[in-house]
Amino acid sequence: TERTLVLVKPDGVSRGLVGEVITRLERKGLRLVAAELRTLDRETAETHYAEHRERPFFADLVEFITGGPLMALVVEGPRAIEAFRALAGATDPVKAGPGTIRGDFALEVQNNIVHGSDSPESAEREVTLFFPNLA
Ligand code: GTP
Ligand code: MG
Repeated sequence: TERTLVLVKPDGVSRGLVGEVITRLERKGLRLVAAELRTLDRETAETHYAEHRERPFFADLVEFITGGPLMALVVEGPRAIEAFRALAGATDPVKAGPGTIRGDFALEVQNNIVHGSDSPESAEREVTLFFPNLA
């Protein structure tokens, strides 16, 4: 079994899609381990997205992810990292297939509803960043 950090980003929360995301991952067979609605401070957001620090969209991304409450989830199951990223679909929602969260609910690359850790190393780092008591 494996753990991954899932975020319902501020666009997903403001559009009322928290339940939809949780329903989809639970239906898939993944299990919730932790959940918290919170607004990220700038420092946590910059740490979370540190790999994108040099990208031209970094400032916009930090503004977006700190711009309202998000739902942070720790999700567990066999190959949970890959399983959730398959549910999420491609980063660019226009390229994400129908039936995926991004494919069904989003149109713009930044405002793509969800985040899911992309590797075991990222998952461990991100779970610890959001939920230090689960480390
Ligand atoms: P995350 O699960 O959120 O990490 O998405 P990802 O792994 O599918 O994509 P990636 O890590 O490459 O990018 C992180 C996030 O930055 C994306 O999910 C988008 O919200 C945002 N992003 C990516 N590319 C662009 C871009 O070209 N412009 C803008 N404004 N935002 C982008
Ligand atoms: Mg990523």
